[in-house]
Amino acid sequence: MNTVIIYASRYGYTKDCTQLLADQLKGETIVIDADNQKEIDISEYNQVIFGGSVKIGQLQRSITTFALTHKKELLKKKLGIFVSCGDKSNYMKYLQDSLSKELLSHASLIECFGGEFRKENMKFFEKRMVNVMEKANEQKGGRPPIPMFENIKKMATEFSV
Ligand SMILES: Cc1cc2nc3c(=O)[nH]c(=O)nc-3n(C[C@H](O)[C@H](O)[C@H](O)COP(=O)(O)O)c2cc1C
Repeated sequence: MNTVIIYASRYGYTKDCTQLLADQLKGETIVIDADNQKEIDISEYNQVIFGGSVKIGQLQRSITTFALTHKKELLKKKLGIFVSCGDKSNYMKYLQDSLSKELLSHASLIECFGGEFRKENMKFFEKRMVNVMEKANEQKGGRPPIPMFENIKKMATEFSV
């Protein structure tokens, strides 16, 4: 089996997750950054895993566009979908808001990879927004984003059979 992983990452967390996933997958695997490659050809791959991260409730446009333009082809592949976010209880809602029902129900596995605030990669206003979010979250007794590497492992296991 050969696999293509297509991802988008704003601050680097999701990029690292896809590399971890690629390292754990058996067979030939390539990783594509959807923000750096406009024409994505998935025809030669049996398995496709794609996803991105959430900012103010939205997945990256490069990922929603990829899903939309390749929908017919994706419905013929073994498919995995992932999302990185701070609020893991909402991960399915983020995906439902951004991707078609057919793709979500066709996927063999949908996982939340958790999240991380990488402030060193954020612009000034983004850092300020995150500081406000962190404070509000703290007051509500909420948790900061946490990595969920166990779900990367689950994805790797599902796509290594
Ligand atoms: C400005 C900003 C807005 C965010 N908005 C949300 C959000 O609406 N919901 C959520 O669950 N996580 C949110 N997050 C958390 C990110 O999804 C999380 O930090 C993720 O790991 C980012 O991955 P990336 O580094 O690959 O972009 C936000 C993060 C930032 C910096």
